[in-house]
Amino acid sequence: MMGKLSLPDTLPNALSQFVLRGKTALVTGSYRGLGLVMARALAEVGARVILNGRNSEGVARAVDTLVKEGFDAHGVAFDVTVEEEVERGIAQIEQRIGGIDILVNNAGIQRRVPLIETPLGTWEEVLRTNLTGPFLTTRIVGKRMIERKHGKIVHVCSLASFVGRKGIGPYTAAKGGLKLLTQAMCAEWAEYNIQVNGIAPGFFLTDLTRPLRENPEFNAYVEHRTPSRRWGHPSELTGVLLLLVSPAGDFINGQVIVVDGGILAVM
Ligand SMILES: NC(=O)c1ccc[n+]([C@@H]2O[C@H](COP(=O)([O-])OP(=O)(O)OC[C@H]3O[C@@H](n4cnc5c(N)ncnc54)[C@H](O)[C@@H]3O)[C@@H](O)[C@H]2O)c1
Repeated sequence: MMGKLSLPDTLPNALSQFVLRGKTALVTGSYRGLGLVMARALAEVGARVILNGRNSEGVARAVDTLVKEGFDAHGVAFDVTVEEEVERGIAQIEQRIGGIDILVNNAGIQRRVPLIETPLGTWEEVLRTNLTGPFLTTRIVGKRMIERKHGKIVHVCSLASFVGRKGIGPYTAAKGGLKLLTQAMCAEWAEYNIQVNGIAPGFFLTDLTRPLRENPEFNAYVEHRTPSRRWGHPSELTGVLLLLVSPAGDFINGQVIVVDGGILAVM
């Protein structure tokens, strides 16, 4: 089924590279936030998309919305931190929906607490979700991609993949690890025609960052510190995503591309 933004059959070569007709994409943690916006963008350029999250009702609701918009959308709920659930969920997708051509590891959590007060459980929860989760999903999906000799993998990283900030130590350790996991996967899988890259969003308007926006001091910090003087809109990530998962990005590998209104570029 084609999405409501019906794609013409012929496009100039430069544009046709971005069309994902016939491709199947799994986006983890995608029934809301950046994940849902990215999944919708993939569907808009013709991909069959699979939404995921731990909450099966939330996943079903988001799938329903995309299907009503005319997109080819499916949902498979699983927790990216639980190995058996990931294995079962991905096997279900491959058997019932199709081989996964594109994997976007988007599921993530934040726990804001100074390092000195961070309980081990919190440290492990953040590491499991933001780093071990992408390892588990990609190890399984990557194996199939190696057999098929093609695949696109995108890890959703963060500014915290590059620099530290007070109060988010576990998240910084996890997202920093995810940047180097991106490079490690590139080193091992590029020869199988698999491209593994990352996107590092700056400060974007989602539920995850609501506590930051509701803090007038932090909100002013973001608006002052970002050269563009504003927060990012989730749709502003989709251009880079489409580049990284389409043939247009076939020779881009092991990179983490920052989309942040310039914040990381300035003192
Ligand atoms: N919003 C930002 O400004 C920003 C900036 C940098 C990076 N990020 C990253 O972008 C990604 C999406 O963030 P968001 O802002 O949309 O947040 P969000 O909280 O709206 O979305 C995160 C999603 O991940 C899902 N999730 C969490 N744990 C999961 C698990 N164990 N298994 C499956 N799904 C799980 C949640 O249910 C949710 O749907 C995260 O990885 C986050 O770290 C966001």
